[in-house]
Amino acid sequence: MDNIRIGIIMNGVTGRMGKNQHLERSLMSLIQEGGLTTKEGKKIIPEIILVGRNSQKLAELSAQHSGLPWSTDLDNVLSDPKYTLYFDAQTTGLRYTSVKKAILAGKHIYCEKPSASNLTQALEIYKLAEEKKVKHGVVQDKLWLPGILKLSQLIQQNFFGRIHEVRGEFGYWVFTGECEPAQRPSWNYKKSEGGGIIQDMVCHWRYLIDNLFGTITDVNCMAMTHIPQRWDEMRKPYICDVEDATYTTFLTEKGILCHFNSSWCTRVRRDDLLTVQVDGIRGSAVAGLRECYIQPAESTPKPVWNPDIPQPINFYEGWMKIPDRKTYENAFKEQWKLFLLHIVENTPFPWNLLEGAKGVQLAELAYQSWHERRWLKVPPL
Ligand SMILES: NC(=O)c1ccc[n+]([C@@H]2O[C@H](COP(=O)([O-])OP(=O)(O)OC[C@H]3O[C@@H](n4cnc5c(N)ncnc54)[C@H](O)[C@@H]3O)[C@@H](O)[C@H]2O)c1
Repeated sequence: MDNIRIGIIMNGVTGRMGKNQHLERSLMSLIQEGGLTTKEGKKIIPEIILVGRNSQKLAELSAQHSGLPWSTDLDNVLSDPKYTLYFDAQTTGLRYTSVKKAILAGKHIYCEKPSASNLTQALEIYKLAEEKKVKHGVVQDKLWLPGILKLSQLIQQNFFGRIHEVRGEFGYWVFTGECEPAQRPSWNYKKSEGGGIIQDMVCHWRYLIDNLFGTITDVNCMAMTHIPQRWDEMRKPYICDVEDATYTTFLTEKGILCHFNSSWCTRVRRDDLLTVQVDGIRGSAVAGLRECYIQPAESTPKPVWNPDIPQPINFYEGWMKIPDRKTYENAFKEQWKLFLLHIVENTPFPWNLLEGAKGVQLAELAYQSWHERRWLKVPPL
């Protein structure tokens, strides 16, 4: 049976996300498996071209992946009809211009979040993609994390009864780069390059909460720059002119209060780098990236406040771990598979540029709420 070859332009793949998650763990992994199987039993085979600025890095990456073609000339690659899909994992500030160019060249679009640096641009590329009738998608990887899938199943099974509160704790210590190299790129801490943890994380909380707990209707945000100086990739000191932690509260249409802390300045003493605790009348759950623990009402311990004696309850013992009932794939790869099937078979793919724009909208409102120190309504888009 014939294979279906899809030419994919991958821009920004020498970076962390582009290389690790999208190229290696998603598309190369699919290629190594012999392609993605369609309903009719055909195989979808990605045909990748790497695009970027740095020839040396591109040549090295190509050599690591059996000589994938590469180019530093995006315009030229966009004019090649062999490539029908444009993928973008560049730094956020560069996304809008390149994605717009790709839409105008008639390419389908798949891109990292945030889909643009501001709502006007995010909506513009959504509308343009619709007008040009190209298919489009935005990465919403957290939805396919095993821990979140388990949480989502608990909600569907009505494990919680009425959910009243959700608490998200995201973050870890990002080294300053002074004595130990930082594990995040320095542009994350520079306004002019699209940095800031609100812009980076609030768009994740948008789709996570909208999908699991109901559409967000209100937002209240506080943020700070806790560490004002860092050292870049060349070990040169620079000033951080964006927030590196944000403490944000959301309300949903279902009346569920969701509070998410996001910080690059905190040391972890919890189950995982992201934990989401959900409290309901009939039970609670705590999801991490892979695991999810539950405590039903029936086995909830009854603590009594008494700091004069050692704590008699080991609170961790009162939780049950949900077993893996299947093998989970990489979350980015799962979403890629759905997008490729959407292109080939026209299967539904709701995680599009409009949903991406909703994330950008929420980040923008979070900044406004922080600066004006007040709750804001989140208008429907
Ligand atoms: N989905 C997620 O969980 C997740 C996590 C982290 C980052 N991201 C997003 O992925 C994107 C990339 O983040 P990253 O952490 O991989 O960053 P990175 O700095 O590691 O990579 C950025 C890429 O953009 C390219 N680039 C940078 N400046 C450029 C310029 N001036 N011209 C052309 N190319 C340029 C770099 O060469 C590199 O390939 C960001 O938009 C970020 O928001 C998503």
